[in-house]
Amino acid sequence: MKLLDFSNININEEAPVCEPERQYYYMAKARRYVTAKADELGHPLTFCVTTFGCQMNARDSEKLVGVLEQIGYVETSNEEEADFVIYNTCTVRENANKRVYGRLGQLSRMKKQKPYMLIGLCGCMMQEPEVVEKLKKSYRFVDLIFGTHNIYKFAELIVTRFESERMVIDIWKDTDKIVEDLPSERKFPFKSGVNIMFGCNNFCSYCIVPYVRGRERSRNPKDIIREIEKLVADGVVEVMLLGQNVNSYGKTLDERMTFAELLQEIEKIEGLERIRFMTSHPKDLSDELIEVMSKSKKICKHLHLPIQSGSTNILSKMNRRYTKEHYLELVDKIRAAVPDISLTTDIIVGFPGETEEDFLETLDVVRKVRYDSAFTFIYSKRTGTPAATMENQVPDDVVKERFDRLLKEVQDISAEVCSVHEGTIQSVLVESMNDHDASLVTGRMSNNLLVHFPGTQELIGKIVDVHLLEAKGFYYMGEMI
Ligand code: 5AD
Ligand code: SF4
Repeated sequence: MKLLDFSNININEEAPVCEPERQYYYMAKARRYVTAKADELGHPLTFCVTTFGCQMNARDSEKLVGVLEQIGYVETSNEEEADFVIYNTCTVRENANKRVYGRLGQLSRMKKQKPYMLIGLCGCMMQEPEVVEKLKKSYRFVDLIFGTHNIYKFAELIVTRFESERMVIDIWKDTDKIVEDLPSERKFPFKSGVNIMFGCNNFCSYCIVPYVRGRERSRNPKDIIREIEKLVADGVVEVMLLGQNVNSYGKTLDERMTFAELLQEIEKIEGLERIRFMTSHPKDLSDELIEVMSKSKKICKHLHLPIQSGSTNILSKMNRRYTKEHYLELVDKIRAAVPDISLTTDIIVGFPGETEEDFLETLDVVRKVRYDSAFTFIYSKRTGTPAATMENQVPDDVVKERFDRLLKEVQDISAEVCSVHEGTIQSVLVESMNDHDASLVTGRMSNNLLVHFPGTQELIGKIVDVHLLEAKGFYYMGEMI
């Protein structure tokens, strides 16, 4: 990353009140502290950011990395040797929280040997008041705690920590603020996530996201287009538009715009080759969007359409606002308009009150839709959500048995569905060298499946045509033509 020139920022003056200028002021100030500490220690300071959870968090982590590199830290993938360890946390399921507490125990031991080390925690889990209370009480060695709404203040918070020598906690309950033009360091030079909206207003009854990510707010289309144009100028060929419910994009804007309209504007950006988006809520997926997808040359042939349950009764208790029939009709409509589209989904097993009949409805949808792949989750009780206090929580052994049945069905179907492209020629974005065989590269097709084929480093970031020679279940072996 190119280091920004902060020489015109006078850090002896008061901090500016406006954003993003205020954060650039704090980045300049933080760089002073980091440089001084590195001089004192005789080596550059290193950092390691670990991301839990979804693509939204992955994108947030790129913003954290952008700031850390601007202030003089150097990235290391080895947490044990890092001078600043950051966990960008997820709280969508209880397991994610448990993993963070477990790893904090290890960090505490590391910090005893290296007292100047900094530990930062951010992300969705920090938006839960009970978590912060527990950290304040039992994890005093943590240096910095902030949430999802004020991540843009990272530089300012680091300076506060350098100047206070105490645990810094800054959590906001909600915000409508969106700060543009801050640095970020992309993980891949050729593809990037782009936030188009933040938060969620759907309040599905099992889900903690609306509480930890706040109310839905859309970014201004001009800012989105400008960001993508800059990315393309910088070598990006594929973008993933990110939002908890992209289909309701634009509802909070002064000048309203639909998601389908936004996609059409993005399609016009010259040099951009592929557009993906995630996540779609079935209740808001419009005919206009289906039409735009069917006509587009750039939108990838993949739709992630979480069903959550196949039972209309459970869907109603989940507050999903569609029925099994409505969902299946939607799938038919999409397949009619975009015949070779790949469909993926999320499914929760063991929602309170789920009976064997309800579960069979879910299996029925899986068999009817024949998903390319499905993420299956065991229902996890999240304190504060309506489902947490619902009656008839399903016993663990019953849930586990249903989960295993579902997983088998999903995997068997997916292996069959994925192999239908054998023998065809597909356009593929080469993403990396193969992990196991140095003579192969790995690329992604429009439908999100991976293919491995002979190739060299220079191909990475390029879109090439590949003949799919052999289906291997969830991926292909191929050859470039
Ligand atoms: N328990 C299990 N899975 C959940 N998800 C969201 N909340 C929960 C929960 N409490 C799943 C949903 C969602 C995905 C991102 O996580 O399937 O689509
Ligand atoms: Fe959670 Fe539902 Fe919002 Fe998705 S749409 S983030 S599942 S509340």
